[in-house]
Amino acid sequence: MKKILLVANWKMNPQSAKEARVLFDAVSDNVKKLKNVETIICPPFCYLSSLKPSKSAKLGGQDVFWELQGAYTGEISARMLADLGCEYVIVGHSERRQYLGETDEIINLKLKMALKCDLKPILCVGEQTGQEMGEVVERQLKIGLTDIAKAQISNIIIAYEPVWAIGTGNACSSDNALSAALFIKKILTNLYGRFLAEKVPIIYGGSVEARNAADYIKESQMAGLLVGGASLDAEEFAKIGQAINNL
Ligand code: 13P
Repeated sequence: MKKILLVANWKMNPQSAKEARVLFDAVSDNVKKLKNVETIICPPFCYLSSLKPSKSAKLGGQDVFWELQGAYTGEISARMLADLGCEYVIVGHSERRQYLGETDEIINLKLKMALKCDLKPILCVGEQTGQEMGEVVERQLKIGLTDIAKAQISNIIIAYEPVWAIGTGNACSSDNALSAALFIKKILTNLYGRFLAEKVPIIYGGSVEARNAADYIKESQMAGLLVGGASLDAEEFAKIGQAINNL
């Protein structure tokens, strides 16, 4: 059976390498017992070298640049992430789209580079308040996945993160998350055929807590969760892990 994905996006937290190590160690310890869950921690880049991934707690980057090397001040390449032990990378998070002007075209280049360096990209899609989910997600998927070959698509994870649910406590209902999961499957089926579309894990993110975590897996057909705020609290994160491990 495929493991349920539990991804922690620490965003720009915590504020010191020491705190990052303490949190990582606590989380790693807590998730060891979760046999049905694959845990992936995405810390800020600067902490990656001091965190040692294991079978139970893998590492991911929060972003990646679209070129391999060269004069790109401040950027981090996919190979650098892989070299630091990352197996995954978040691409196209709504905060980067919103505050850093990332377009679907840029996100497409980043996805391709991540795949080229054998990282598994977690492509984030989702609508803002007042936008229509289908219209936005279809565009984000179609442009984001342009020229991604059939042979590569099963290495991508799609994260549905409605922007209005991120960090607001206003989590998406399990019905709406189910509609989004089915819609994403439909678009993937149109692009890659049903057989391959079914191999692409679709996960949910946005105000996930221990009390609502299991609903997204049980009722919304999600293959996992992408957790922001609650991933900074080792105990709450462990409870989320337990809730989805015991389904
Ligand atoms: P919150 O869990 O804090 O709502 O953040 C979700 C998110 O953006 C994860 O990438």
